[in-house]
Amino acid sequence: MEHEKGLSSAERDQKVLNLYDRLLEIEQRLIPTGLHVFGRPSQAKQKLDLLRMVASFDRPESGLHALPDLIGERLRLIKRGELENATRVTRERIDSIVSQSITIFLQAGKRQAEKYLADCANVSEKESHSWFELLEEVVTRLDSNSEMDALMRALNGEYIQSGPGADVVQNPAILPTGRNTHAINPYSVPSVAAFARAEAVAASLLTRYCNEHGRYPRSMALVLWGLDNIKTQGEGVAQALWLLGVRPVRDRLNRVTTVEPIPLRDLNRPRIDIVLTVSGIFRDLFSPTVQVLDRAVRMVAQLEEPEDLNYVRAHVRQQMEEESCGYDDAATRVFSNAPGNYGTNVNFMVMDSQWAQDETLGDLFVTRKCFAYGRDSAGRTIEGREARAAMDRALARVEATYQNIDTIEIGITDVDHYFEYLGGVSKAVEHRAQSRPAIYLSDTLDREAKIRTLEETVRLESRAKTLNPKWYEGMLRHGFRGVAEIENHVSNTFGWSATADAVDDWIYSDVARTFILDKEMFDRLRALNPHSTHSMIGRLLEAHGRGFWKVDAEVIDQLQAMIGTVEDQIEGV
Ligand code: BEZ
Ligand code: MG
Repeated sequence: MEHEKGLSSAERDQKVLNLYDRLLEIEQRLIPTGLHVFGRPSQAKQKLDLLRMVASFDRPESGLHALPDLIGERLRLIKRGELENATRVTRERIDSIVSQSITIFLQAGKRQAEKYLADCANVSEKESHSWFELLEEVVTRLDSNSEMDALMRALNGEYIQSGPGADVVQNPAILPTGRNTHAINPYSVPSVAAFARAEAVAASLLTRYCNEHGRYPRSMALVLWGLDNIKTQGEGVAQALWLLGVRPVRDRLNRVTTVEPIPLRDLNRPRIDIVLTVSGIFRDLFSPTVQVLDRAVRMVAQLEEPEDLNYVRAHVRQQMEEESCGYDDAATRVFSNAPGNYGTNVNFMVMDSQWAQDETLGDLFVTRKCFAYGRDSAGRTIEGREARAAMDRALARVEATYQNIDTIEIGITDVDHYFEYLGGVSKAVEHRAQSRPAIYLSDTLDREAKIRTLEETVRLESRAKTLNPKWYEGMLRHGFRGVAEIENHVSNTFGWSATADAVDDWIYSDVARTFILDKEMFDRLRALNPHSTHSMIGRLLEAHGRGFWKVDAEVIDQLQAMIGTVEDQIEGV
């Protein structure tokens, strides 16, 4: 408390405001409050939040300007495009009008909601009408659920209608569910919109690194997934191109087959070297894009530019000199699994507790992902040639790792794939570069294209989901499966300790306190699913045993007693 007393009142106010910002961030995070039940439409209370999110983005496909912006502009609170710069009070005022209008819409229909906006926000009924038409369409489609019907038709070998893949906020046209998800034409990637959106994200990423390190990262490792780039029409790909400082070029058939450099005077910063670790699904779905990415790196390496403004060129030249290797070896940057192989297996090794040395997980990542793709300088395709030395060398230069998160539906502790990829590559870098990289994730669903460190994201996910009664009570309504989901989250959180030491002690302590040391909760969990309860305690003990969680011996003793209780229960003692 002592140093708190020394704060000036301005500093104290700033501290309180920062805390308030943090709380708002957690409060406003959209989380699933329960699992999707196949064949069952979504419930009424989930709709308000979802529609608010849908309305908070421009919908150029429907000619709609984001509802909060529209309201702010009509009330003369903000100028066009300036919502992000508005004061907190203004933003809260606008948000509450948006929420109120959607609540009225859900309860009384679109005419009442239009009237409300006309009275309270000077938005003409004509202007808001198109918004509520769209929201009405979304609600109708949310309420209709043809999943079971489609499954039966599939089993009968009949036709299933197709629809785009994305999440509802990104593209409401994915509704109704129960259709065949179709991909996109890989030659269209990145779309013009995705390339435009990626500029701000790449800039925020570099700004964040610069703020923390006082200079640009010389090399970054990026994770690219197939499904994400389908959903966003190539946002991750576009971010990689921005880091290199190149833009896609379309041929006469409107296909992206190459890139051109953005001149340094326009870029206004150095070209960042990148190492791309792409999933097997990405490699299969985006074969032309893999070629474009490889080509982009090689093109940048050959630009006649000062090396302090072109890190790719600098690194390739250095490597050729130091190792007297050829240009093709030194310019390899696109890596994936061997042809026909998928995944890193890092998740399996972590989940089965099958590693003893710290470097084992990173080595496994490289063993699985060290296959190069692209074309050599003679134009011959390199389709999955093993290139372990090239990958080791490229990773040894990396100073920051990054993955684009583009969905509200799946976060970094919901599935084990985020830590197997982003965690796996970060651990591989740590041992090759002799230094832990800065690890970042974006949140491109946030309109401000927020960049967070891994540690911040783990904290946010833990507070918004794992430790949030709204989330875990939603899961527990599903009984056995719900307990398994909570256990999954704890294990995936543990995955971030194993690969990146990114989990604070208090997170494990709060998990223990909430689910195990609370007698009533512990009894609920083990009655619903003793096996997952057992695994959860085992994972906490493992976190402590491996040095990821510093906690009083007393807590460990208690956990050991609890695991004994569950063992007895399972064995029927
Ligand atoms: C992908 O879409 O590339 C992907 C999906 C799940 C896990 C890993 C990668
Ligand atoms: Mg720790």
